[in-house]
Amino acid sequence: MDQIKHFLKFNDLSVDIINDLFDRSKWIKDRYKNYKKYWPLEDRLLVMIFEKASTRTRLSFESGMRQLGGSAIYLNTRDSQLGRGEPVEDAAQVISRMCDVVMIRTFEQKTIEKFANNSRVSVINGLTNQYHPCQILADIFTFIEKKGSIKGKTVAWIGDSNNVCNTWLQAAELLDFTMHVSTPKGYEVELERAGLYNNECFEVFENPMDAVKGADIVTTDVWTSMGFETENNERIKDFLNWQVNADMMALAKKDALFMHCLPAHRGEEVSAEVIDGSQSVVWEEAENRLHVQKALLEYLLLGKRNDK
Ligand code: CP
Ligand code: NVA
Repeated sequence: MDQIKHFLKFNDLSVDIINDLFDRSKWIKDRYKNYKKYWPLEDRLLVMIFEKASTRTRLSFESGMRQLGGSAIYLNTRDSQLGRGEPVEDAAQVISRMCDVVMIRTFEQKTIEKFANNSRVSVINGLTNQYHPCQILADIFTFIEKKGSIKGKTVAWIGDSNNVCNTWLQAAELLDFTMHVSTPKGYEVELERAGLYNNECFEVFENPMDAVKGADIVTTDVWTSMGFETENNERIKDFLNWQVNADMMALAKKDALFMHCLPAHRGEEVSAEVIDGSQSVVWEEAENRLHVQKALLEYLLLGKRNDK
């Protein structure tokens, strides 16, 4: 039997597969926009496990499965045995016998790895404290749609070195672009936590204004991620100078895109003027979650690549 493929972190897939996924995403998106039925996953079932809140991830996976002819079941920790201490290994054995693919949003990366090691079907990371790989697939696909290949480009990350930042860094290492990272002191990137082989794909800037100079994309995320709420008051003080605003955007390339995975806090990590301005592509990023995840599901379930 072939080894089961999982998508637990961005670099679980090769460059070739990722590029194929982008081609498939475009094909699937065009078809969907033209109301052409495409049901390759008829009778296939996705189980989605959420240990944290979600709007986009739940909706895009659930509607994506339905639009591909399959279905999805939502589980959370509050009303399943997962919240009452059933070992992850046992849950994985049982759940993966009743579906064709699993998506999990949880806290520690180790939890999703444990699940995957005991699963009979592919497991997709729908966000952990360490990574958010589906988000970065959508973000890079959005860039490709607007500007072409991301190879050789510069992405400025302003703010917390969180799950989304770590995943951008993994993508940079794999797809050959550069990250400029500026975080407040005490919130710096950690190579091991980011799952990087070395620090060649990124440059660190003390001053966020320097980090955005010449950038093709300026991106940020909330100052306090889910699971870190007790640090919120301290973080609001620490991140004060790390807001992406119009003065900062003016230092990036003239045609730079602004990205944010959402949900956003206007007036904290980004000004309303920027997120609602003409360089912002946040709604496209959100929509593209749907299209890239359909391509991912198709690949994991059918092994389909860009042969149509
Ligand atoms: N960007 C993102 O993953 O959004 P949700 O938390 O709403 O799923
Ligand atoms: N970094 C954020 C992303 C939310 C989609 C969080 O983990 O809460």
